Amino acid sequence: MAHPGSTIIGNSKIIREILSKADRVARTSLSVLVTGESGTGKELLARFLHDRSQRVARPYVAVNCAAIPAELLEAELFGYKKGSFSGAVSDRDGLFVQADGGTLFLDEIGDMPLPLQAKILRVLQEKEVRPVGGRDVRKVDVRIVAATHRNPAKLVSQGKFREDLLFRLQGYALHLPPLRERERDVIALARVMLHSCPEFAGKELSREVQELLLAYSWPGNVRELRNVVLAAAVDAPRSIKARHILPHLADKGASITVTPVLPVQERLLAELKERGQQTLAQLHHGLHILKSTLHYHIKKLMAQGKIQRLAEGSRVRFTVADDAEGVQQDLPGSQIQAVRTETQAGKVTRQQMANSVGISIRAAGRVLALLVNMGIMTPDGQGGEMRGYLPCRL
Ligand SMILES: Nc1ncnc2c1ncn2[C@@H]1O[C@H](COP(=O)(O)OP(=O)(O)OP(=O)(O)O)[C@@H](O)[C@H]1O
Ligand SMILES: [Mg+2]
Repeated sequence: MAHPGSTIIGNSKIIREILSKADRVARTSLSVLVTGESGTGKELLARFLHDRSQRVARPYVAVNCAAIPAELLEAELFGYKKGSFSGAVSDRDGLFVQADGGTLFLDEIGDMPLPLQAKILRVLQEKEVRPVGGRDVRKVDVRIVAATHRNPAKLVSQGKFREDLLFRLQGYALHLPPLRERERDVIALARVMLHSCPEFAGKELSREVQELLLAYSWPGNVRELRNVVLAAAVDAPRSIKARHILPHLADKGASITVTPVLPVQERLLAELKERGQQTLAQLHHGLHILKSTLHYHIKKLMAQGKIQRLAEGSRVRFTVADDAEGVQQDLPGSQIQAVRTETQAGKVTRQQMANSVGISIRAAGRVLALLVNMGIMTPDGQGGEMRGYLPCRL
């Protein structure tokens, strides 16, 4: 069962790519090093890696290496024997042992002192731990996920981090980009965060606030976004406005130049260019535009020949019609005329069209798509090579 806390929100291409990589590597036993600025979701991703692994039913143990003093961290990780230091009143298992069979998340690994790094390296190599003050070793089977907001290569070059340990930890590397580089996620995240709090039910982000959220640089990344949106929701009676957001931004001096959100049709085209074919539901979800508004703009863009509608059985998808636009220049007028004559005869397939007009099947497909777009033809029958097209009866 996935841990509810590990739901990672994100529509941006980059987040989708990271999640698919994470999903793949989760199923292996490789060590994973997660990097990214503070608040980008490193801890969330670590939990995701555990939840998607075969170790999900075993413990997930997290430790923040920057939050525990160096001398305690060693005892915390490896455990200790009674009497090995003042305060060690009984034997205690360390986190490696507690995480046996599962995942140990070493957060802020970049802040780990060098002597301890050497000890961690040994555990990773030998797969066994020796408690502080003890002589016996114990075998452990632990999958390591480590994270740091620092640049590990830089730490190595500064002599603050062991290169051999970095190699060990970095069986697979995942980098979470800052929120300002994943504009597409900002509004989706803000909405989910707002709607996941029942006490803010009915409160919405105004248009101006959406523009503001997109324009801001988010130095504190997703954590800051959540804090800001929730704090603003406290102050807003219903619609959250810029005046509710501004006092809560971390970067008070930020000169926020609110660039107007692109008009719907430009956003629609940009979305289709970035993602390829999309269903109406996907566009609705990705662009946060009412379906009725989408319908209206899709129709307009189709009429202009900028996008085209693809139908496979009952699945309707939309795509940028750059192919269809180009077709008129590709084909001489006489061929276009021949195509039109051909299409008046009745049902025609791409193959038949290609043969009778003397063009490639691909070109025939593009012409037919163009004619569908122009409302002259309509797809009929199954998809694929044998799909037929019928003239529209007006
Ligand atoms: N993609 C996301 N979807 C949903 N929630 C997210 C996402 N990314 C981050 N969060 C939330 O933002 C907050 C910060 O995330 P997290 O603690 O994982 O960041 P971090 O990179 O570990 O930060 P730090 O370096 O400061 O420890 C958490 O509340 C987390 O749940
Ligand atoms: Mg963290």
